[in-house]
Amino acid sequence: MYVCLCHGFTDRQVKCALEAGAGGSTAAVYRHFECAPRCGKCVPLVRDMVRAARTDEEPPVRR
Ligand code: FES
Repeated sequence: MYVCLCHGFTDRQVKCALEAGAGGSTAAVYRHFECAPRCGKCVPLVRDMVRAARTDEEPPVRR
């Protein structure tokens, strides 16, 4: 599933980034992809994924 349509990265890519150590913050995930939020619609989901990675939980499903 695409997380960020502006930059074209997926939930799988975010999970890989988090596993690779980009889990310190939401901003760290964007730095990993060498970008910054454009429209910002993906920020809440990326934030949830970062939080879930910290607590070993599945991120909540957003619709
Ligand atoms: S969807 Fe990620 S910045 Fe627009």
